[in-house]
Amino acid sequence: MAVNPLIVAPSILASDFRRLGEEIARAEKAGADWLHMDIMDGHFVDNISFGPAFVAAARKCATRPIDVHLMVSRPDHFFPRFVENAHNITAHLEAEHDVGKTLAGIRAAGCTAGLAIRPVTPLEGAVPFLDQIDLLLVMTVEPGFGGQEFMPETLAKIEEAARLRAERGLRYRIEVDGGINAETAPEAIGRGADTLVAGTSVFRAERMEEAIAGLRGGAGA
Ligand code: DX5
Ligand code: ZN
Repeated sequence: MAVNPLIVAPSILASDFRRLGEEIARAEKAGADWLHMDIMDGHFVDNISFGPAFVAAARKCATRPIDVHLMVSRPDHFFPRFVENAHNITAHLEAEHDVGKTLAGIRAAGCTAGLAIRPVTPLEGAVPFLDQIDLLLVMTVEPGFGGQEFMPETLAKIEEAARLRAERGLRYRIEVDGGINAETAPEAIGRGADTLVAGTSVFRAERMEEAIAGLRGGAGA
């Protein structure tokens, strides 16, 4: 039995920024549970996306929770600027910070706390923090850009994260992000993922409602 109900979180990075409000309304109407927002600082990853002001603007249009994914070198320095408008804030294990302190700070500010690992990062480094998180983000592409292909070698980590979760009686969500579509979603769900981030496959779909339903189609896998 699944620990958590399935969540689909369309990634705003793939939306049309000229019409942020309309894009959010379109995603919510099509069945989005959360809205995923990628913060990139041009240092932790080789791209710059948007910052707190853009997330605040999104919050004004959104009725669904906002899931902030910090791809920044100093998440400890920047997370406070997002707490007002985010429901969940995820920081990377590989960034330069005291991970436990950042996670505690996020929770103390009233948000749920996520911890992310890159495809090359073994799960091992995240293990000491598993009882301090609400969500584990297993990146299924190298972070930095949308539209990349899902990396199947990350599936074993999802499975291991689910195994540890059951073994320790924990409830953290297992989120996957990168290259998630109707073909790859069932693979991830089958290994224990319960939170699906999808940019290209949702916002660039001809029919968004069908795309989101297609992601959920893997729920029984
Ligand atoms: C990539 C971001 C993703 C991105 C996913 O670094 O973390 O959230 O928007 O985009 P797709 O679904 O197009 O791979
Ligand atoms: Zn992301």
